[in-house]
Amino acid sequence: MGLPDGMKGRVAVQGLVKRFGPVRAVDHVSLEVSSGEFLALLGPSGSGKTTILMSIAGFEFPDDGRILIGGEDVTWSPPNKRNLGMVFQRYTLFPHMSVLENIAFPLKMRGVGRAEREERARAALRTVRLGQMGERMPSQLSGGQQQRVAMARAIVYQPRVLLMDEPLSALDKNLREEMQIEIKHLQREIGITVIFVTHDQTEALTMADRVAVLDHGRLQQIGVPRELYEKPETGFVAGFIGETNFCEGTLQRAAMPGDPVSVTLDNGGRMEAVAAQALSAGERIKVALRPERLRVEPGGTDGMAARVSEAIYAGNATTLLLEADDGQVLRARIPAGAGLHEPRPGEAVRLSWQRADARAFMAGS
Ligand SMILES: Nc1ncnc2c1ncn2[C@@H]1O[C@H](COP(=O)(O)OP(=O)(O)O)[C@@H](O)[C@H]1O
Ligand SMILES: [Mg+2]
Repeated sequence: MGLPDGMKGRVAVQGLVKRFGPVRAVDHVSLEVSSGEFLALLGPSGSGKTTILMSIAGFEFPDDGRILIGGEDVTWSPPNKRNLGMVFQRYTLFPHMSVLENIAFPLKMRGVGRAEREERARAALRTVRLGQMGERMPSQLSGGQQQRVAMARAIVYQPRVLLMDEPLSALDKNLREEMQIEIKHLQREIGITVIFVTHDQTEALTMADRVAVLDHGRLQQIGVPRELYEKPETGFVAGFIGETNFCEGTLQRAAMPGDPVSVTLDNGGRMEAVAAQALSAGERIKVALRPERLRVEPGGTDGMAARVSEAIYAGNATTLLLEADDGQVLRARIPAGAGLHEPRPGEAVRLSWQRADARAFMAGS
């Protein structure tokens, strides 16, 4: 009402806290989602993703904090007053209703007349590319088709925000990857705000404009996929997204984010890195280094001396397991076809990297 269109689908979570007995399921989480944005909530099982989604939907009420949708405080509004669509992992369609009746049901609840219901349900069905399936019963559809019907039912009343909780996790890999792209296209097409829960980092990076990473109810980092992968701000994010080598050691001098640091590794070696967060002197430090950012060269005297213990060929790349002279075990990835040296097991090599690719964190972060 009176709100510019560009704000209607905006969602703000402010200082959200939710406890279940002694468990802090959500611990002071704040985030904003723009109208028409696709945000993924990513984290391991139990990190609080579903609880955040349920609080936005109005099925859970917070112990502290506020939820705003389209600028309006809905923290204490019931779900049916929030105008949101929802799709869950196994959104059981009503088994005794046809596909079209299922999709039309939310309109019926809202008192929309029969002819308009039918027309809008058919349009929603076309949107999810199941135009011919309206007369079928849910049991006559595959898992992927059922999820599309669930989506059609969630968007048929044109909600401003679509909430999805692991909607693809019951599907097999190929279908899941197909649906990821399809949902993304559909979201762009209808311009709806989507908040999408997943524990699968590839799914989050593939689908989302921005990703919010959670651990133990706390927001670790929120950013575009590239930022999260290339500039993780906590050790948790560095380890959770993509593959990473961690080398542990200590630091002589404290450092601020972005400072170059020289970490003394436990076995005596040194590692040049960049502080990814504020680091204190004398504390345990871990340095994260992506396998594909390690340069592996046959000889010379520069860099870290290591020996190849295994070379695993995987078509598009070869993964090397390396043991540095100081005992440190590292992985490196050599892309195929780039003309790079592919060392064999037993070969002595030198490892090097760009300082900016080695990111130092406090060990407990
Ligand atoms: N209704 C509930 N009663 C008690 N504990 C709950 C309830 N819902 C969630 N929790 C706990 O809150 C934490 C976060 O759960 P959840 O939000 O479901 O995480 P996720 O969706 O990331 O797996 C977990 O420790 C979980 O056991
Ligand atoms: Mg969950």
